[in-house]
Amino acid sequence: MNITRAKGTRDIFYDEMDNFSKIEEEIRKVCMLHNINEIRVPVFEQAELFARGVGDGTDIVTKEMYTFEDRGGRSMTLRPEFTAGVVRAYLENGFASKASPVKLWYNGTAYRYEKMQKGRYREFRQFGVEIFGASSYRAEIEAIVIAKEVLESIGLMNKLKLKINSIGCTECRKKYTEKLREYLKDKIDGMCTDCKNRYEKNIMRIIDCKEDLEIKKSMPMITDNLCEECKNDFENVKSMLDSLNIDYEIDKTIVRGLDYYNKTVFEFVSKDLDLAVGGGGRYDTLVETLGGTPTNAVGFALGLDRIEMLVKDLNKSYKKYVDMYFVVTDDEAFKVAYNLGEKLRKLDIITDIDILDRSFNAQLKYASKINAKNIGIIGENELKAGIITVKNMENSSQVTADLDAKVIKDVIKLLNKKGE
Ligand code: HAM
Repeated sequence: MNITRAKGTRDIFYDEMDNFSKIEEEIRKVCMLHNINEIRVPVFEQAELFARGVGDGTDIVTKEMYTFEDRGGRSMTLRPEFTAGVVRAYLENGFASKASPVKLWYNGTAYRYEKMQKGRYREFRQFGVEIFGASSYRAEIEAIVIAKEVLESIGLMNKLKLKINSIGCTECRKKYTEKLREYLKDKIDGMCTDCKNRYEKNIMRIIDCKEDLEIKKSMPMITDNLCEECKNDFENVKSMLDSLNIDYEIDKTIVRGLDYYNKTVFEFVSKDLDLAVGGGGRYDTLVETLGGTPTNAVGFALGLDRIEMLVKDLNKSYKKYVDMYFVVTDDEAFKVAYNLGEKLRKLDIITDIDILDRSFNAQLKYASKINAKNIGIIGENELKAGIITVKNMENSSQVTADLDAKVIKDVIKLLNKKGE
């Protein structure tokens, strides 16, 4: 029986895993520095949460969800995104009574049955932030800045473009969609099948469809049809981005693929690949849609698989080097080295040791395969003298030292420096 992994899923290991670890380390750091609390929500939820939350006319809900009946006959769905689940958790755990704003971040897998493409998987990873209780444009700024800082910390910002738009509030959107419907009334028959469906169910999505561009040339755009409040908010977002020297582009075609957004929306897009690595915006009606009292909210998610793909292109290595690999000749030497290793680890020295009882040469070969920076040889002579020979594998300098973890840590530092 040849069992292989499911289409659209990945095994992540070695170099790729090192990249993911680095990205996740930076995410944790940036979120901590912005005082955001981590939240973990379930991988599966009641199917209805996403139908109601993400929108039952969206591609995600109509075509892409992994929905199944559990053994109790309930309809469950593997999360296609986190926002709806986080809102459900916000309501179920009474977060509204916590100090406002409530600021949460998450990182985990999400599931969409999509056509396979570069950077598109059926199981993928998302990091995101959701901020509840802030009606001001300041929340959009906080969200954009956090995303930008994560992307910057791993050296990606100059490969990306920040695109922003405003899709208005319920009020201005109502007026706008009437205008759009009127404009498209006698043109829709000549447009693509998806847009025909959207005309009936989700007219805003016609804006970001890449078909029928000729017809769309003079189409009214929501960005030019905002009410005073939405216009002001968008101006504030832009002027704050300017003051922070964050480059952005206004893209009137960004309306986002999920139904819950209003006012500011944004995406981080790869300049070379024209692929979104992240997106988000304001969603002031979702908490109410899911049964809560009206609550302002803003958030975003970044796709870690796509980010890792771009990190790989930078050809930087985030490999963690083994600081010290013990090469031992017998059980007595193993005992001494193992005890020493435990003490070195307490001093944050990454330490490894032969557990296969291999020959001296085989141990040396392994040390170079795992890129050990130093080897610590404990052989017959060293055992007799109560010392260790430490050799730097990069510059070949070597010294003997007492079997004392602190001394060995200093020796390692010294030998590493010699190669600089
Ligand atoms: P989204 O734009 O659907 O937004 O997804 C965010 C990011 O997840 C995308 O920009 C992309 O990088 C990544 N992504 C989406 N689908 C896939 C896939 N099939 N394979 C690989 N990566 C993928 C949301 O999910 C919203 N919940 C974001 C949000 C949070 N808005 C407000 N709060």
